[in-house]
Amino acid sequence: MRSLNSILDLGVDELDGLIATAKDIIAHPEAYWDRCAHKKLATLFFEPSTRTRLSFEAAMLELGGSVIGFSEASSSSASKGESVADTAKIVSCYADIIAMRHPKEGAPYVASQAASIPVINAGDGGHNHPTQTLADLLTISREMGRLSNLTIGLCGDLKFGRTVHSLVNALSRYDNLRFIFISPTELRVPDYITEMLREKNIPYEEVIRLEDKLPELDVLYMTRVQKERFFNEEDYVRLKDFYILTAKKMNLAPPDMLVLHPLPRVNEISVDVDDDPRAVYFKQAQYAVYVRMALILTLLNIHVD
Ligand code: CP
Repeated sequence: MRSLNSILDLGVDELDGLIATAKDIIAHPEAYWDRCAHKKLATLFFEPSTRTRLSFEAAMLELGGSVIGFSEASSSSASKGESVADTAKIVSCYADIIAMRHPKEGAPYVASQAASIPVINAGDGGHNHPTQTLADLLTISREMGRLSNLTIGLCGDLKFGRTVHSLVNALSRYDNLRFIFISPTELRVPDYITEMLREKNIPYEEVIRLEDKLPELDVLYMTRVQKERFFNEEDYVRLKDFYILTAKKMNLAPPDMLVLHPLPRVNEISVDVDDDPRAVYFKQAQYAVYVRMALILTLLNIHVD
């Protein structure tokens, strides 16, 4: 029995295998329709979500399985003081696999230690969001045709943006990558990420202005300023509109640069970018279903010939 807490739990071969399976699901969905018949996914969401929870549920339903769960802590016995570990033990009696989102970093890991079924981290505080990374990798692989030889700009809240941390960890294992971190000083990427890149001799830059770097990028990964992780409203208001990608700014970017965003967006991408063929953030949300299907099959040890 295996869980997914961090994207680093998966080797590069396993990442490539999940991406290949997701692409096969896109090509041959009918081959997967009943693979999880009589299996149940429990979605335990202690924090709000639209994409992650619903795409996990859609993934399990597409595989012929069923879904149980809750979408807020207040409707679970966590509101009466039940621990994450006890919750995981109890849900192990009712389901075959758990997807858990929690505001506390490490909570899905605690659940995975207590559960007798696989637990998938569906986002823990400002820490990790490995299945968003799987969706990001599938999007880049499908739309760019490669995961190596890329210059990737990550822009916005690089401090609290857990999707950024997971994505850099994943991509740092592919060849010839260069990272450009674009953020205000207060929202710089954590030191443990830049230390990891230095240890691996992977080139990176930290800059403040997006416009200066747009012409150099193969992929621009925009992020929302994470209001829910700020300690005071004043700092959030000051930083929330620091970056706004517009159609006019897109004129500075290469003709084949991809724009990704884990979503939800607030103001950081103007809606006038949405019709640009380089904007793939809505496709990215769709790809998330296929790669989560691939992950559920893998963790349940269900093989498709
Ligand atoms: N990308 C993402 O995690 O979105 P949700 O918060 O809506 O799940």
